[in-house]
Amino acid sequence: MHYDTESNGHGLRHDPFKALVAPRPIGWIATLAPDGTPNLAPYSFFNSIADKPPMVMFASSGRKDSLENLERSGEFTCSLATWDLREAMNMTSAAVPPDVDEFRLAGLEAAPSRYVKPPRVARSPAALECRLWKTLQLPAPPAHPHSGYWLVLGTVVGIYIDDAAIRDGRFDTAAVRPLARMGYMDYAVVTPETTFEMKRPQVADDGRSVVVDTGAWDGVYR
Ligand SMILES: Cc1cc2nc3c(=O)[nH]c(=O)nc-3n(C[C@H](O)[C@H](O)[C@H](O)COP(=O)(O)O)c2cc1C
Repeated sequence: MHYDTESNGHGLRHDPFKALVAPRPIGWIATLAPDGTPNLAPYSFFNSIADKPPMVMFASSGRKDSLENLERSGEFTCSLATWDLREAMNMTSAAVPPDVDEFRLAGLEAAPSRYVKPPRVARSPAALECRLWKTLQLPAPPAHPHSGYWLVLGTVVGIYIDDAAIRDGRFDTAAVRPLARMGYMDYAVVTPETTFEMKRPQVADDGRSVVVDTGAWDGVYR
């Protein structure tokens, strides 16, 4: 099949787009409402977009509480959503009013951040403390001009890592079993069994071919 997205003529039971760009990491975004109520919600239109300085993005379908809060306060955190926290993560996606604290709703303890005011999920093995850089209104679909997404771009100013998740000087991503979002109601989980190492190719001495070294990684991103 091959279809144009403007008419969304895929003819399938559900739009396949989210199932095609998958798995997507989940940013578990915490903000503070103007009255100080903590807000927590998962966003899977989420990713890191740079590392010097570290920056992240997420996209809100319309003006949700997270967007409203962080535009006012300029701060948010992203906790890592893991297999052990999957049900709590799901609970925090409920469309409750802004005065409802989703940490409490999902039975989660909030831990204070060091560099920003919004807290992080205490049981999450890692969290990014972020300052808002920019929000950008994305184009709405022509058929629904009042819908559309808002892109949030943030700079990571502090990072929390649970020391127990560090092994041999590396954050052991697979060991904490991060969740990822696929399409429909499907999720994936990263595990040691589904993780592998593959080193970047190096240009060979002739300058035109490449070789992939099979030895231990030297720590250089090529
Ligand atoms: C795993 C997961 C990922 C989600 N990703 C997004 C997303 O990328 N953008 C979005 O607008 N809503 C997303 N949602 C829905 C929001 O979490 C939901 O609308 C939530 O109530 C928003 O909360 P807020 O109004 O407190 O920001 C997602 C829900 C789940 C369960």
